[in-house]
Amino acid sequence: MCGIVGYVGSSRVAPVLLEGLRRLEYRGYDSAGVAVHVDGKIEIVRAAGKLDQLEHALEARPMNGSVGIGHTRWATHGRPSEQNAHPLLAGDVAVVHNGIIENHVELKRQLTNSGVEFSSDTDTEIVAHLINRAHTEGVSLMAAVRQALTQVRGAYALAIVSRREPDCIVIAKQSSPLVIGVGDGEMLCASDIPALLPHTRRVIFLDDGEIAQLTATEARIETLDGKPVERAAKTVDWSPVAAEKSGFKHFMLKEIFEQPRAVEDTLRGRVSLETGDVVDSELGLDGEVARQIDRVVFLACGTSYHAALCGRYWVEQLAKVPAHTELASETRYRDPVFTSRDLVIAISQSGETLDTWAAVKTAKEHGAHVLAVCNVLDSAIPRMSHGALYTHAGPEIGVASTKCFTTQLVALLLLAIWLGRRRDTLNSHRAATLLQALVEIPHAMRITLERKDAVHAAARRWMHAEHMLFLGRGLGYPIALEGALKLKEISYAHAEGYAAGEMKHGPIALIDENMPVVVVMPRDAHFEKTLSNVQEVRAREGQVIGIISDGDQEAAAVAQMTLSVPNVADAVLPLVTIVPLQLLAYYIADLKGTDVDQPRNLAKTVTVE
Ligand code: AGP
Repeated sequence: MCGIVGYVGSSRVAPVLLEGLRRLEYRGYDSAGVAVHVDGKIEIVRAAGKLDQLEHALEARPMNGSVGIGHTRWATHGRPSEQNAHPLLAGDVAVVHNGIIENHVELKRQLTNSGVEFSSDTDTEIVAHLINRAHTEGVSLMAAVRQALTQVRGAYALAIVSRREPDCIVIAKQSSPLVIGVGDGEMLCASDIPALLPHTRRVIFLDDGEIAQLTATEARIETLDGKPVERAAKTVDWSPVAAEKSGFKHFMLKEIFEQPRAVEDTLRGRVSLETGDVVDSELGLDGEVARQIDRVVFLACGTSYHAALCGRYWVEQLAKVPAHTELASETRYRDPVFTSRDLVIAISQSGETLDTWAAVKTAKEHGAHVLAVCNVLDSAIPRMSHGALYTHAGPEIGVASTKCFTTQLVALLLLAIWLGRRRDTLNSHRAATLLQALVEIPHAMRITLERKDAVHAAARRWMHAEHMLFLGRGLGYPIALEGALKLKEISYAHAEGYAAGEMKHGPIALIDENMPVVVVMPRDAHFEKTLSNVQEVRAREGQVIGIISDGDQEAAAVAQMTLSVPNVADAVLPLVTIVPLQLLAYYIADLKGTDVDQPRNLAKTVTVE
C-alpha cells in the first residue's frame, strides 16, 4: 500500500519524482523519500509525514540528477519515521518497495549473522542488502536483483538504482502493481498510471515474476529466470488533468461531482435501447456461461462489497439466479465451496485488493468462471480473472470511493440485465425500460448534486454528532451501509448501517433524542415498511434525516430534516440516493477539518491481508 515511482531521462528528476508521488500519495502518506544519481553518488532525501515534508526537505537540499526513484509509504514493518522511510540504502544500491517480504525474519537473521548492520526496521532493507551483496564486481544490477529475488518470498514492486550504473533503473514485480511509462527520450515506472500521465499515456504493465531494466530509450523486460519478454505499449485514455483537482477543494468532492460523467462513460457503447439489450461484446462474458451457471457469487471488500449487495439484488430479481455476496477478506480463510457452475463476480475499483485477489484465485482453482468488475485496466484482479468488465470512472484519488462505487453499480445492473436476457427471464421490453432508466441517471444525478447547499445545511446541523445510524431496506440497505462507511472513513464519527427491519432486533436500544438516524426512504416498493421503522425511531425521540423522493409529503412529514432525490425507477434508486449521503459525509468531514482525501490510517489500495 505504498507508491513507488522512477524516472530515467533528461529532466531534473527530483521535481518529476515529487509530482509522481503527489499523484500516488493516496496509496500511503506517512513518510516519503527519493534517491537520485548525482555526480557518481546516490543522494537520498527522506522525511516523515506527508509529502509536503519531503518537498520542504528537497527545497533545503536541491538535487540535480536526472535518474532517480521515489516512494510514499503506508507503514507495515516499522513505525512511520524518517529512518524507516524509503529509499533504503545498502552499499551501492538504493531500493523502494511496495509490498511485504514474508520471510523477512529468517532473511534478517541470516544477514545479521553474516555481519550486516541494519539502519531501519523495514523488511525492505533486507532486499537492499541482498541485492548489494549480489552486486559484486562484474555482476550487473539486473543480475544482482534477479539473484537476490530467488531468496525472497512475498509481494513486491521494487525499483532499484545502483551507484555503479548511473543510467538505469531496475524494477521487479510480484503481486504488487508496477507499470512502465514509455516517454519520448525518457522512461518512467510507477505503482499506478496517474503518476505517469504528465509525461506519457503509453504504458506497459509488468507481470508477476518479471524484471526490467529501464534506460532513457529502452525498457528491457525479462522473466526472473531470464527469458526475454516482448510486450507492446498500450495507450490509456486517461487525460493528465483527470488526476488533478480542477478547482475543487478536495479530490473527493471533485469525484462526487464527476459521477454523472463517469456513469455516462460506463454506459457508453454498452446499451441498445432499440433491442432492449446490453451489447454482448462489452461484457467480458460468453453467453454460454450465462446459460450454464446455477449460482452467482460476488466477492468484494468495503465499498465494493456494498455494490455487490446491490448486484445480488439485481441478479436475483432480473436473471432469477441464486446469488450470494461474500466479504473477500473472510472467504479466503474458510474452506469455501465453488463449482464450475458458479459465476464469480469480483468487484474491485483498484483491481489490487489482496483479499479479493486471493479469493478470486481460490474460486478459479475450484473451477468457477470469474469476471472482474474493475476500474483499472489490466490490474491484478482482472488479470487473475477469465474476463473483465471495466468501469470508466477515470482515476479516483480520494481514498473514500465515490464515483467508482456508482460506476460499479452501473456495471452490475448492466450485467444483471444481460444475464436476464440470456437466460430468458427478462423480456426485451422490460430490459429496454430498465436501460432507459439507467440512461437517464446522469441527469437525475446532476439535479441531486445541484442541491448540495441543502446537504451542507444538514452537515452543519449534525457535524458534532458522535454517533449516527443509517437505515434502509431492499436496495436502500446497501446504500445505508455505504453512507455509514463514508461518514466514518472521513469524519471519524461512529456510524452504523443497518437493514431497517433489523432495528427492532437490537439497535433500537440506541435511539434517544441525541441519536441522528439517516433513513434511505424513497418511494419504492419498501416505502410503507420503512415508514413504520421511521415511526419507531420518532416514538423514541430519535432525530430522522430522510433521503426521500421529490414531492413526497408523507415522508417529509415524519422526518425532522429531508434531502430529496428525483423520482427514478426503483431499480436505479441507489444511483441517486447515495449522492446526498456522499455529500453529507464530505461536508461533515470538511467542517470538522479532517484530511478528507487522505483520512488517517487508511490507504486507497489495500494490498495487505
Ligand atoms: C472505500 O471508500 C474504501 N476506501 C474501501 O472500503 C474500499 O472500497 C475497499 O478497500 C475495497 O477496495 P477495492 O474496490 O479497490 O477492492
